[in-house]
Amino acid sequence: MKRVLLIVSGGIAAFKALELIRLLRKAGLSVVCATTENAEQFVTPLSLQALSENKVYGALFSLTDESEMGHIQLSRSADLLVVVPATANILAKMAAGIADDLASTVLLATDKPVLVAPAMNVRMWLHPATQANMKTLAGRGVHIVGPDEGAMACNEFGPGRMAEPPAILAAISALLEPPVRPLLGRHVLVTSGPTHEPIDPVRYIANRSSGRQGHAIAAALVRLGARVTLVSGPVGVPDPAGADVVRVESAREMLDACQAALPADAAVFAAAVADWRVANATDSKIKKQPGAAAPALELVPNPDILATIAAAGPRRPQIVVGFAAETDDLLANAQSKLIRKNADFIVANDVSPETGIMGGTENAVHLIGPNGSEEWPRLAKDAVAQRLAERIAAALGQA
Ligand SMILES: Cc1cc2nc3c(=O)[nH]c(=O)nc-3n(C[C@H](O)[C@H](O)[C@H](O)COP(=O)(O)O)c2cc1C
Repeated sequence: MKRVLLIVSGGIAAFKALELIRLLRKAGLSVVCATTENAEQFVTPLSLQALSENKVYGALFSLTDESEMGHIQLSRSADLLVVVPATANILAKMAAGIADDLASTVLLATDKPVLVAPAMNVRMWLHPATQANMKTLAGRGVHIVGPDEGAMACNEFGPGRMAEPPAILAAISALLEPPVRPLLGRHVLVTSGPTHEPIDPVRYIANRSSGRQGHAIAAALVRLGARVTLVSGPVGVPDPAGADVVRVESAREMLDACQAALPADAAVFAAAVADWRVANATDSKIKKQPGAAAPALELVPNPDILATIAAAGPRRPQIVVGFAAETDDLLANAQSKLIRKNADFIVANDVSPETGIMGGTENAVHLIGPNGSEEWPRLAKDAVAQRLAERIAAALGQA
């Protein structure tokens, strides 16, 4: 039986937590409640206990609770933590990492997914502090349901009204039992690795891309059920199992292979494509002549693969994801790239040498999309890939 740790904070909507517990129990889930001190002004621990049929955890420093079930264990033994209602106060504490009572400590100590159902007065919700906190939480992967817009207990009208218990139940179910293969029947094109731009038959211009991130994305998309065409430049990493791999060298070959792979439902351009190629590449090896000057390389622009495939037209994939590897003005550059190239999402990463990202096993990215930018924590490239694949599945589901 899946376990939900329901954290109730002190808002007027706390009474709706009782209805939610009833729905969760009916859906066959086990529910354990933890309350803030203020929540007990709005809903009694006795009601929570009666409906959940479990002990209610209220005070942080209760020695008996710590010996029975410590706060760390409480937060780890659940499959999902749900904050209903989530007051402006607890959301602010979560955003700041404050742990000054049982509820906030459990939320800080957990390694499980967290869902919050904000509920508050419209002015509190619209306050820049709350909005900034929500952005921080969303960027850290906290799931959010609601709030709705409507009449409030305080006689005002607007956003801030808590989502209704059936909607919260639906969000909980989706998190506990996500569709295992949401990309079944979908075709996704992924590019990965560097390109090699020939100078002559033995020499080339390249970059430091290892292909790790692009290959991990292809693997994650395969795991979610997609048919994946991976167009890869020369890399040392192994082919992801289950993907159709097309090997190319130059940017022009990569573009041809991408166009040949269409139609696709989504396309992810993770390859580090050379912006320029050598205009005067030769068919035979340039010989070093004693005393002769070094050859001058003339560079000309390569085709822009992302912009070409993302341009509006009947063959444009529904979702196009570009990458922006920058060393300066990361967000501004990525934001303008999103618009300039007609992409739906840009994964922006800082590839300054001190980050160790280019060629490394971890990545720290911002995801820029139609609703602004999200900062993801520094994660293994596999974990970034998994998150991105899930986002693509969600975006295709809504498209
Ligand atoms: C009658 C009443 C209703 C309240 N309703 C809400 C609410 O819906 N949302 C909210 O964020 N705060 C609400 N508050 C304010 C919180 O109770 C207050 O910020 C408290 O410190 C929250 O504590 P907690 O987050 O630890 O539970 C209300 C206060 C009162 C007195």
